Amino acid sequence: MVGVKTHKLGIIGFGGIARWHIDTMKDAGYDRVELKGVFDLAESALQAARDRGFIAYPSQEALLADPEIDVVMVATTNEAHKSICMDVMRAGKHVISEKPVTVTSAELEEAMAVSKETGMVYTVDQNRRTNRDFIVMKRSVEAGLIGKPLVIESRVEGSRGMPKGWRTIKRLGGGMMLDWGVHLIDQFLYMIPEKVTQVYCKMLSVQYPEVEDNFHLMMTFESGLIGIIEVGTNHFITHPRWYVMGEQGTLQVDNWNCDGRIVRATTTENEWDEEIIYTMAGPTKTMAPRNKKSTETIALSAPTDVVDDITVVFDQFLDAVEGKAPLTIKPEEALRTMKVMEAAFVSAEEKRSVNVEI
Ligand SMILES: NC(=O)c1ccc[n+]([C@@H]2O[C@H](COP(=O)([O-])OP(=O)(O)OC[C@H]3O[C@@H](n4cnc5c(N)ncnc54)[C@H](O)[C@@H]3O)[C@@H](O)[C@H]2O)c1
Repeated sequence: MVGVKTHKLGIIGFGGIARWHIDTMKDAGYDRVELKGVFDLAESALQAARDRGFIAYPSQEALLADPEIDVVMVATTNEAHKSICMDVMRAGKHVISEKPVTVTSAELEEAMAVSKETGMVYTVDQNRRTNRDFIVMKRSVEAGLIGKPLVIESRVEGSRGMPKGWRTIKRLGGGMMLDWGVHLIDQFLYMIPEKVTQVYCKMLSVQYPEVEDNFHLMMTFESGLIGIIEVGTNHFITHPRWYVMGEQGTLQVDNWNCDGRIVRATTTENEWDEEIIYTMAGPTKTMAPRNKKSTETIALSAPTDVVDDITVVFDQFLDAVEGKAPLTIKPEEALRTMKVMEAAFVSAEEKRSVNVEI
């Protein structure tokens, strides 16, 4: 791209996701950043960088001392994000942290103060704002296709248990809340321009006693809208990815491919038979099937106009670095997500719902 400044990137923590990002950017022909080199505590990760033709710096300090590097990605285990991001900004470089940006809101506030003090851009890879399943749900609800939304349910479920390693260790920022919860809460807060007023959460530690490998979270928003998030690693049959109950219809997105449908009322009148109806559920009025003529079905499919990869996140980061546009994924937004997660931990531990104003 002529006239576009190519930034020199350094990466601290060159594990699975960092390599995925670099491969994705290469495949996309993304040229706004060029990876110069990496630092990682593990020799195998440094070797992986050398094998790809990048510099393997002997220390974090050596990477940060390279004057050519102006932007840094931090993709280490979660507990290390905060202090490394602060070091990066103090070295005069802009930083993009992997999620979760830190492991507590107090940590994030400390790092945000350093961003303010140094003037360095500080953002976080909340890359699931452009996931197609999320966009198809968001657009449908915002277009009013099911009327006023009352309950939005978001579920991510697997059946293989927790991956071994740092995700099972609390002090390294393990557990499914910081791993997946952070993405799914971010999607809710990004979509719904309201405060969260109440948080209720149950957590299970099926395989690893130290961390939650499953959780059920309910958030109530100011207007009364309920957001439900469930993440699990013991689901051999999965629920739909999204299920939204609206005043005039129901939306379901079945999976990551965005297969799904809306069924909605074509009339606002509710027809009731005078008599009890005999159904498979037994005799009932309330749960009797609706007259099919009073509903319509709209098929859902993946939106074709959505770019959903790391280049979108880098574009917003680099636009802010270049002063072209305000940051899209702001640390202040990540702070709200951190606070919801903290309220969820309190709720689970104290077995009660927590009133908040987040
Ligand atoms: N945005 C996403 O969709 C997404 C997906 C997966 C992982 N992540 C996040 O990316 C981060 C890394 O996850 P991963 O799956 O790549 O883990 P990983 O274990 O594959 O890689 C982490 C790497 O960080 C290195 N490391 C740890 N502490 C370090 C330190 N102090 N200095 C330098 N290197 C250090 C480790 O040696 C390892 O190579 C996590 O924060 C995770 O939450 C984000």
